[in-house]
Amino acid sequence: MDLQQATEEFKSLLLKIDKMYVADFISWVEDHIEAADKDVYDQQNNSMVILDSIREELRKIVPVNGVIPSESIIPPEVGPNADCTSQTTAYIDAFLYDEEDMNSLGEDGKIHLHYCSDCFSRNIKPLTLVTHSASTAQIRYIFDFLLPDISGKNLLDIGSRLGAILYGAYLFTNANIEGVEIDKTLCQIQENIIKKYKFDDRIKIHHSNILNRSDLLQKADIIILNNVFEFFMPLNMQVLIWNFLHSHLQKRRVVLITLPSIEDSLKNLKTNINISEWVKEIDTTEILNTASYILLNKTPAETDLGNFHMYETL
Ligand SMILES: C[S@@+](CC[C@H](N)C(=O)[O-])C[C@H]1O[C@@H](n2cnc3c(N)ncnc32)[C@H](O)[C@@H]1O
Repeated sequence: MDLQQATEEFKSLLLKIDKMYVADFISWVEDHIEAADKDVYDQQNNSMVILDSIREELRKIVPVNGVIPSESIIPPEVGPNADCTSQTTAYIDAFLYDEEDMNSLGEDGKIHLHYCSDCFSRNIKPLTLVTHSASTAQIRYIFDFLLPDISGKNLLDIGSRLGAILYGAYLFTNANIEGVEIDKTLCQIQENIIKKYKFDDRIKIHHSNILNRSDLLQKADIIILNNVFEFFMPLNMQVLIWNFLHSHLQKRRVVLITLPSIEDSLKNLKTNINISEWVKEIDTTEILNTASYILLNKTPAETDLGNFHMYETL
């Protein structure tokens, strides 16, 4: 239930109450509001503790850049990330290391956040930081702010990697969750976490190329696409996959949460997709303002939360 539905239900409940009891009922609500608020806070806090414990566990087995030996990363040749050269870019997994962790790793000399001061030049520049996982702030933004109540709905994360989105979806919603991931070792890492934390009643992992799993698309109500293909698939494959998504996500309402926007993802690809006929973007400006402040105590422009876009298929 979202805020608007809750308000409507509350108003209609007030109308149903015998007039002589309305004042007492409102006073009862006032007395209990603090306790209810505390319950929600405690539940979110417990979920964060579990998520932190998973992050700690993964940090022991995954390198700081979050890239495992079986993978081959394909730095993009076109688009806004085409400047991600090895000289100017650092890969750091944002699920495993938040801003504070990164700063301490930088201070300890375990990672570098700036380039070239070897020649004593004072003209140093910050490295472009690239992550292949969602951060905990992004996860909470998606599940606590962007999406309405998705209890019982089917959520699919395409390219589930270390499982960041899947664990977040499990802890912050009551959805049924599936992840599809092309890399076998990454699937094994996710399976181990799911088993250890007993998430297997609501999370399922599939080791596959999404191109072979139209069945997963057909049953999904919500699909997450977090920069899934750009660093992992050659351009001709990206075209194939987007055309495949387009042809299987039609004539049924599906919510897509994407980073970057679908417009940016398709800009340099020769697909046959007419975006405005396929999806409608949902305005998230208000939600972004609130979430940036609550989650990070920053303005939206100071966060990367606004890089996520939300659409509904038409
Ligand atoms: C940027 S990561 C996304 C991480 C994760 N969804 C998150 O938000 O934390 C993209 C992942 O997609 C996987 N991938 C890329 N192309 C794929 C495909 N065609 N089918 C399945 N997985 C794919 C990659 O192996 C990589 O682990």
